[in-house]
Amino acid sequence: MSTTAGKIQDLRNRYNEAVVEPEKVAAEKQHAKGKQTARERIEQLMDPGSFVELDEYVRHRTTAFGMDRSRPYGDSVVTGVGRIHGRVVAVYSQDFSTFGGSLGEVAGDKIVKVMEFALQNGMPIIGILDSGGARIQEGVQALGKYAEIFRLNTHSSGVIPQISIVMGPAAGGAVYSPALTDFVIMVDKTSQMFVTGPDVIKTVTGEDVGMEELGGGLTHNTRSGVSHYLASDEEDALDYARSLLGYLPDNNMSDAPDYSSDFEFETNDLDQKLNAIIPDSPNQPYDINEVIEVIADHGEFLEVHPLFAPNIVVGFARVEGRSVGIIANQPQQMAGTLNIEAGEKAARFMRFCDAFSIPVVTLVDVPGYLPGTDQEWTGVIRRGAKLLYAYAEATVPLVTVILRKAYGGAYIVMGSKQLGADVNLAWPTAEIAVMGGQGAVNILYRGEIKRATEAGEDVAAVRTKLADEYTYNVASPFLAAERGEIDSVIEPAHTRVMIAKALRALRRKRAELPPKKHGNIPL
Ligand code: HXC
Repeated sequence: MSTTAGKIQDLRNRYNEAVVEPEKVAAEKQHAKGKQTARERIEQLMDPGSFVELDEYVRHRTTAFGMDRSRPYGDSVVTGVGRIHGRVVAVYSQDFSTFGGSLGEVAGDKIVKVMEFALQNGMPIIGILDSGGARIQEGVQALGKYAEIFRLNTHSSGVIPQISIVMGPAAGGAVYSPALTDFVIMVDKTSQMFVTGPDVIKTVTGEDVGMEELGGGLTHNTRSGVSHYLASDEEDALDYARSLLGYLPDNNMSDAPDYSSDFEFETNDLDQKLNAIIPDSPNQPYDINEVIEVIADHGEFLEVHPLFAPNIVVGFARVEGRSVGIIANQPQQMAGTLNIEAGEKAARFMRFCDAFSIPVVTLVDVPGYLPGTDQEWTGVIRRGAKLLYAYAEATVPLVTVILRKAYGGAYIVMGSKQLGADVNLAWPTAEIAVMGGQGAVNILYRGEIKRATEAGEDVAAVRTKLADEYTYNVASPFLAAERGEIDSVIEPAHTRVMIAKALRALRRKRAELPPKKHGNIPL
């Protein structure tokens, strides 16, 4: 043992004891539940063989509740650094097979250490969560570590991309670490997030609710909006995280990856499809994804939050090989109206893009805000203001294309020029006005409608004629163009090329906001 060879053999034995043997036990426990181990998940996430583990010899020092009888190496989390698409990324992955992945003092220290490493060295961090929460035997030390993690999540926000992949339980206050990160991915049926579990809820409120219904992946993707992607299984979740990272820069000082592409500056056959996409009837929907597919390089679009507020579509694409964020109304869902959920979804996405200097392309077809007491009473004023705030404070290049309807406040909020967009284009099918033709007729032509009714004329026909006249005379995009509210009216088939040219022109955009400690976005 005193020889060098002996010491190296000792290291090998210890590594075997700390990593190799426990990994076999972990695999047995996790595989039985149809789950992978913390290390297997990392291996699948990272480029093959690139992961370097840190702190695998850490052990807890707790003596309470007989904890000193079991002091596993590495404690309940695996941390380290590896590569994804060749770029360095930090990771922590909770190990449910050790103390239920619970977070005690040393597991917390490991996470804090790797988070600080990521922040100081400007690399994205991915957390894989599978944990029973604060380690019950450790009490306040465990709680204190959570506080440190939340503080670091907050300090890292807008500096490095933070992605959380929930692959098991995330219970109690522990949910707030993912909540503070940029993207939350959940696995269908095997991950749950909740502040208070079903038992506590039953005791306090009498409600009967199962774990999955309360906080499963489907719930958080469709109802609460906590999660941005519902993965069908663990592999799908890890694949999504890898794809997502491909659109993001390492930090707020670096550029997103540039996949130089053979961009075609001539209008092609696919572009022509856009000339026929807007139906002749103003109330007939179409799928905005078909427009996005034409604009995006190779038709590739990574949608974020697809199951939440589907009346607005957000996600990442590339134009000329460079990342762009897309925010688009979806006429196929609720006619593309804006409601509270859609506003919050788009606002958060916009702020992410702005923080990481990813230009945003906005595609507008919005008849207005969703009316109703439910919206008013749940705060459409306060919560709807977030989207205005997000657009108005953005300093990244902003390109807006109005496809069809752009009415009232919804016109303003969806990347209007006066709110700060750089290049605003409209299709000839655009209708830009305070309100739609039918609504305007009700107010402006009340007398005319009354007269037609009394004269026994076909009131519906009179109404339609007046509404068409209003739309043609007042809502015409050429009126907006005449006043410079938009920069040009373009043929839909030219959209892809015009967006690419606009983004090129804006590449060196410099814009600064007045100095301040921080703004006060309505929350
Ligand atoms: C210590 C824990 C633990 C915890 C689980 N274990 N949670 N040990 N502290 N928080 C242990 C179990 O004792 C068990 O050990 C092993 O992990 C596996 O747990 P099981 O219960 O057998 O697993 P399962 O049936 O899959 O249930 C998972 C679970 C349940 C739903 C997460 O374990 C559970 O409800 N745990 C408590 C959750 C909780 O209330 N945590 C505190 C939340 S408050 P053995 O030795 O039997 O294998 C919180 C505050 C954060 O986190 C504060 C931030 C501000």
